[in-house]
Parts: sequence; structure tokens; C-alpha cells
Amino acid sequence: MSLDVRTVPFASAPAFQRLGLEAFGMPPTPPPEPEAEEWPPAGGTPWGAWDGDELVARALVRSFTSWFHGSEVPTAGLAGVTVAAERRGEGALRPLLAAALDDARTRGAAVSTLYPSSAGIYRGLGYEVVGSYDDVRIPVTALASVRAPEGVRTRRAAPADMPAVRDVYRAWASAQNGPLTRTEDPFAMVADDMLGPGSGYTGVTVAVSTRPGSEGDVLGFMSWTRGAGYDRTNTVEVDDLVALTPDAARALWRVVGSFTAVAGFVEVATSGGWTGADPSRFVLPDHAGSVRSRPYMLRVLDVPRALGAARLAPITASVPFAVADPTTPDIAGAWTLEVSEGAVRVMADGVVADGDVAADPARDRPTFTSAGLALAYAGAASTANLRLAGHLTGPAAYDAVWDALWRGRDVHVRDYF
Ligand SMILES: CC(C)(COP(=O)(O)OP(=O)(O)OC[C@H]1O[C@@H](n2cnc3c(N)ncnc32)[C@H](O)[C@@H]1OP(=O)(O)O)[C@@H](O)C(=O)NCCC(=O)NCCS
Repeated sequence: MSLDVRTVPFASAPAFQRLGLEAFGMPPTPPPEPEAEEWPPAGGTPWGAWDGDELVARALVRSFTSWFHGSEVPTAGLAGVTVAAERRGEGALRPLLAAALDDARTRGAAVSTLYPSSAGIYRGLGYEVVGSYDDVRIPVTALASVRAPEGVRTRRAAPADMPAVRDVYRAWASAQNGPLTRTEDPFAMVADDMLGPGSGYTGVTVAVSTRPGSEGDVLGFMSWTRGAGYDRTNTVEVDDLVALTPDAARALWRVVGSFTAVAGFVEVATSGGWTGADPSRFVLPDHAGSVRSRPYMLRVLDVPRALGAARLAPITASVPFAVADPTTPDIAGAWTLEVSEGAVRVMADGVVADGDVAADPARDRPTFTSAGLALAYAGAASTANLRLAGHLTGPAAYDAVWDALWRGRDVHVRDYF
């Protein structure tokens, strides 16, 4: 099947929307068709694959920036990937995503990320699960015994707090691998969206210092929705609970814990599971809770651009490596990672044709699959486990150095797209 793959013009916006609704669910009242002035969607590039006049497959590429290793990394966020029901299994996905990702790379994206409905769909395209976005459901009673904070009080946020709230988010996010910078649509942290009536939140609460010298400084924030009803079956939803100190975390947890007489549960959107748990959860005295995880997948689009932007441990190292994977010839190659005082240079050592590492003149080097590179870059897997999974082969002499360089940050994601 030869498909015509290109960006979706406004004339095809209804077909693009219809294919999305057919895949992801049709609301009882169909949404209005897109308006010309809303096309293409803000911050997104819609892609389609046509067979003659028929739109066979579609995807939306969102231009984001995410934090990885202390740098803001241009990220192509993939969303709304669908193949028409009758045309599934014909191989429409690969040419569609290849064109969309090539274009994103040309525009500067270094990595691509997505939330899969099933991880297997994207493994053959070089993506791997590197983290998860977790809805953690906690009985309100389990929050009742969170210790009283010292030197912190809470109050409702006002528009004047927005710069401080953004600073708290940035301080937290820049210490992780994965979170969006929230500087782009639809996740930009602007007062109207967070504090206005359209936000959907009951409120945003800030934790502020009461200590002399730092009095009034915002040390954390929590956006929350009370929900309906006042018995123990109800749930208070928390979209963000970001705290820069344990006492700020305690203060925010105690605000939702105070609903114990009129709500049964608090559901918090967080990340990291239990192994790389979010620091704000370390102050909880009880582990009670259930988790619904949404895996997050990553693929590197440009090896020197992604790895070269990192700020790593302040050690000096020179590490040869290669990427060879038949499913992702676009990122095959051999490089040497030169690290000096934390700054990274990625020097090309030879082009590997069609993913064949044998064409590399200096072939005897640690070699990653695309999934292995994604896991290693995100700091989500040790070299030992990459070897067990078959995602890293070749000499192991540099494994300890590689781990020391790339495993310094936890993966956290907070924005579902
Ligand atoms: C998922 C979907 C886009 C795949 O399209 P398709 O035409 O069936 O895909 P292909 O036959 O080209 O298969 C592509 C790969 O995905 C895998 N795959 C397809 N459906 C899968 C599923 N449900 N679970 C796991 N893997 C799956 C195939 O095995 C194939 O893997 P390979 O490249 O390693 O051989 C299509 O089934 C669809 O639109 N589903 C409903 C919407 C949806 O789930 N979209 C994904 C949102 S993240």
C-alpha cells in the first residue's frame, strides 16, 4: 500500500477529528467541528496518511520542552495516534510516524515521548517505557496523622503568587528527568488557566514560610478539586502537589487530610511509582493507597543533540558507544561521549549504515538498541539490567562510568497528553 503522508490541512480537519473520536470514544454530544482559526491546534502539528481520498491514519505531534539532566530538551509529544478501524494491521503506522518524527527532528526536537494505550504499538518504532504518570488513591484517614509542619503555613493562591508558583514548579521539575517545562500549550502555567473560573479547580493552595528571614516565601503548591457530596465515598482530586521542603509537603497533605469527615479518598496525580517516588510522598506515615499507572515512553530522535545537552556529574570521562537497531536506522551511529566538568560533547566516530554496526571502523564498543538508549538516557535502567534485557551489548568496561554519568536523576512526568 502506498500512502500519501503529509500534514493535515483545514479541509481535512473534520475527518481528522472523526478518526480520533472513533478510536478514543465518542461523547454523547459530538463536539463541534474545528474552526479555521483553531487549525492547526495550538502547539501541535496534525499528520495524516491518505489512500486516495481516504484518511487512513492520523497523529498529532505536540511541540514541548522537557527537563532532562538539567537541560530543557525540545520534545515531540505524540498524541491521538489512530489507524482507521478497517485499515488496521496494514502497516500504515510506520510511514505516518516516520514522516512526523523526521519533521519534528528537522524543527529541532531531540526526543519524542508519548503515553501509549499499549506499549507494544511503539516498541517496534524505537520507544520504550521509561516512567509512569500515577494516580495514587489514598484514604483520607491515612493523611490524618501527617506530622504538623514547622515554619510553614498554607493559604489560597492569588494571581500575584503565579511567578512564585512557577518558580516552585521549575525548581522541582529541573531536578528530574522527564517533566514538561510547562511553558507551552496546553500546559503553560498561566494565572487564568490555574486560578480562573475555567480552571476547574476548587483552588490552588500555597505553602509559605513563616520563618524569619524567609517569611512569605512560597515553598510548595497544590491544585485541587473538592468534587461533589459530603460522605465517605467522595474523592478530593489533587492535580499537583509540589513541595520544595518536607514541611511544605506536610502542610499541603494536611489540607487535603482535613476533609476526613466529608470525603473518603484523596486522589493525587503524581509519578515515579514506589522506587523513584516523588519526594513529597516521603512524609506520609502510611503507605496505604492504590495506584493507576500510565506508562510514559521515550525515543531519542537525535543522539548528539539529546545527549550533548545534558549536564552530568562533574567528572571527566571519555566513553565510546554506538546505537544499532534495525527498527531505527535514523539514529544508528558510533560516537564518543566526552565529559568534562559535567559538560558533554558527543563526537561522531563513524556512520553506521542501515543500523549495521559492522560498518563502524571502531566497532568493538558498548552498543545500545533504541530502547536501550532511551532507558539509559532517561536514567531509568542500569547498564546491568540493559544487558539482561538485550538492550546493551559489547564490552562492559565503561558500564560503571556510564551508570555514574546518567543515573543521577529520577524520572517524573505530570502532564497527560
Ligand atoms: C494502535 C493502532 C494505531 C495500530 O495500528 P495498526 O495499523 O493496527 O498497526 P500495525 O499493524 O502497523 O502495527 C504496528 C505495531 O504495533 C503492534 N500493535 C498493534 N496493535 C497493538 C496492540 N493493541 N497492542 C500491542 N501491540 C500492538 C503491532 O504488533 C506492530 O508491532 P511491530 O511493529 O513490532 O510489528 C490501531 O490499532 C488503532 O488505531 N487502535 C485504536 C487507537 C489506539 O489504541 N491508538 C494508540 C493510542 S496511544
